[in-house]
Amino acid sequence: MPSQSPLPFSRRSFLHLSAAAFGIVTEPMLAAMARGPVPEDAVMIDANENPLGPGQCAREAISAIIPQGGRYSVNLTDDLVHTFAQLEGLHPDYVQAFPGSSPPLRFAVVAFTSPQRSYVTGDPGFEAGMFAAQAAEARVVKVPLTQTYAHDVKAMLAAAPDGGLFYICSPNNPTGTLTPHSAVEYVVENKPQGSIVMVDEAYIHFSDAVSALDLVKAGKDVVVLRTFSKVYGMAGLRCGFAIARPDLLDKIRGRAGWNFMPVTAVAAASASLKDPLLVPERKRINAAIRQETFEWLDRNGYSYIPSQSNCFLLDTKRPGKQVIDAMAQQNVFIGRVWPIRPTCVRITVGTHEEMERFQAAFQKVMRGRTAFWLQPASLVRGPHRHAVLVT
Ligand SMILES: Cc1ncc(COP(=O)(O)O)c(C=O)c1O
Repeated sequence: MPSQSPLPFSRRSFLHLSAAAFGIVTEPMLAAMARGPVPEDAVMIDANENPLGPGQCAREAISAIIPQGGRYSVNLTDDLVHTFAQLEGLHPDYVQAFPGSSPPLRFAVVAFTSPQRSYVTGDPGFEAGMFAAQAAEARVVKVPLTQTYAHDVKAMLAAAPDGGLFYICSPNNPTGTLTPHSAVEYVVENKPQGSIVMVDEAYIHFSDAVSALDLVKAGKDVVVLRTFSKVYGMAGLRCGFAIARPDLLDKIRGRAGWNFMPVTAVAAASASLKDPLLVPERKRINAAIRQETFEWLDRNGYSYIPSQSNCFLLDTKRPGKQVIDAMAQQNVFIGRVWPIRPTCVRITVGTHEEMERFQAAFQKVMRGRTAFWLQPASLVRGPHRHAVLVT
């Protein structure tokens, strides 16, 4: 039986509503926009979720906190913030918890961009901030990644002398590629006055990337985002952090209003942080399944961008949307297409079994004589670089 769309509105109505009307735009919304109804036994590798779910320690903490669910329990959030701050060597005033990192992403963009101060991002890049910038009526400046798929920080600075917020996602969504710490430092040192650099570290635990938290500690104009949605497997529980100088956090909080964290998420997050084995174990599992998948793609002659994350871009050499639709017919839901790379689709690394089903379906789709073979050649473009795009 097809299940209903997870969105409280149809795909068509979504497309007709403005970003401003929606407020916070999230990965599950973007993933759901790109697909139709989903059968119950489908393989869902389209939203960069973690199929492992919360760790055992987090599950136990959730059960234990249920009796306290009738209270707001602000102190639990304070404990979580202190635990994180201590682990990272930060002052707790530099850490603000939110229900996921999508809210602070949205609030920061709205706080630091405007019709006079543009939003500057890599392309392909995570779209949520672009929607927020549109709501702030800011110019969105999309700058193609470098040939090694890092953010092209010099081009980003050159493209936006009016930049208000420079967004660097490392590992990047959708490519899973890293931007070196030295490049982040370069933007921080050379950006226009009054702007900030936002470093989105949603996927950092899957990678060997160097965090930008040292720049926060050094008092720079940097906001780091972290989330429990990825390696910690808590996307449905909602917990994340903005980490920045208190004056920058005040500006973000100014757009956020005063809300409370779900106690289940806070308890699970605290327990997860205190388990030293959780992150390395999950990093290892993700890397092993990703590697198996890459080896299979290599053996079968498919092209992809090597990634350090739980997602990667797969070049189908055909219009990506048609491959997505053909895969959905096989009950495997893969991620969306970015306009700058129309033949690429984003694949989330699922479980070993899910990736086997992905491989079987992908082989069938790519070898089958389906409609997309007949597309005009103009739609089938290979990897290319665009000039700086301003929307
Ligand atoms: C790059 C990036 N940042 C932030 C988020 C926000 O995640 P959440 O709101 O679940 O913390 C996501 C979700 O996929 C993401 O891909």
